[in-house]
Amino acid sequence: MVENKKVIFSGIQPSGDLTIGNYLGALKNWVALQDAYEPYYCVVDLHALTVRQNPAELRARTLKNIAIYLASGLDPNKNTIFIQSHVSAHSEASWLLNCFCYMGELSRMTQFKDKSQKVGESVNAGLFTYPVLMAADILLYNTDLVPVGSDQKQHIELARDLAIRFNNLYSPTFKIPEAYIGDSGARIMDLQEPTKKMSKSAENPNAYILIMDPPDVIRKKISRAVTDDVGVVRYCDEQPGISNLINIMSTVTNKKPEDIEKQYEGVGYAQFKSDVADALIEELKPVQEKVKSLLEDKTYIESIYKSGAEKASYVANKTLRKMQRKLGLIPR
Ligand code: TYM
Repeated sequence: MVENKKVIFSGIQPSGDLTIGNYLGALKNWVALQDAYEPYYCVVDLHALTVRQNPAELRARTLKNIAIYLASGLDPNKNTIFIQSHVSAHSEASWLLNCFCYMGELSRMTQFKDKSQKVGESVNAGLFTYPVLMAADILLYNTDLVPVGSDQKQHIELARDLAIRFNNLYSPTFKIPEAYIGDSGARIMDLQEPTKKMSKSAENPNAYILIMDPPDVIRKKISRAVTDDVGVVRYCDEQPGISNLINIMSTVTNKKPEDIEKQYEGVGYAQFKSDVADALIEELKPVQEKVKSLLEDKTYIESIYKSGAEKASYVANKTLRKMQRKLGLIPR
């Protein structure tokens, strides 16, 4: 029975083309969890507005994200797939939670610190309160589990703190969600600077691999990935570049890093890199083909996000009304 299943919520920003970090850190786990849970997955377009977007590109990428969710294996009959801005309860709940969140808490968020360092005083307020909107996303659905990469852990802890604070001040209103971070794939690193997280906003395109990169581009980017002069395929802190490639291979093939090390004993980096590229190309090929065919059927994509928003709105509005009532706002 659907009613007894625990709830999952997660989302990806349409702020750039999705990378294999998004795929291996988030999407692959979403697909694996879909049978045992009741999942809500959204394209968090409001979060993307914290960085200036070209409107036409934002629209195209939002639809492409939905196509990628479906092509990665999310079954629309098992998952509620929608666009964040279509469910206005997210923005409304975010304002209410803003009034319970401390400036100190938000100033300590490492993602905010990183991003604001680059732009200084002109950092926009949306970037500062970004984690509160994320907390609203999660808490509105009585979420049990939030499958994400490890970079989002701190944001989920804030969502938990806000939920506990609200519950203590009023009466139990929110479930306290937990982060779900996969064993492998939780932190795919930049191919050029393997001590940094792979990000879709990196300036050098050789630093990341996109889900939609063609096979020859994937091969080229992996062959150019920064390694070391140790010459041994080993999973260790001293060899971050090689360890990242082992991690990618491990997440794609479900083999343990130590088994990959054994398999490549005495084998050179060139052969290893070529095999990592093969494994990744094979994993992404069916996804890429499906995305292309889905994008030709905009009516189908529209039917998914429209029915998703309807279902999500029903659940989210129930929680929002509860919050409003407890806070003393007069019901309409
Ligand atoms: P975003 O859009 O930056 O990333 C989406 C998901 O991909 C994961 N991820 C990675 N995992 C492993 N290695 C990487 N290099 C890598 N890069 C990205 C992220 O951890 C994330 O799971 N704030 C969120 C979006 C969001 C959200 C939410 C998530 C908004 N509301 C509610 C969960 C629940 C973000 O910016 O993710």
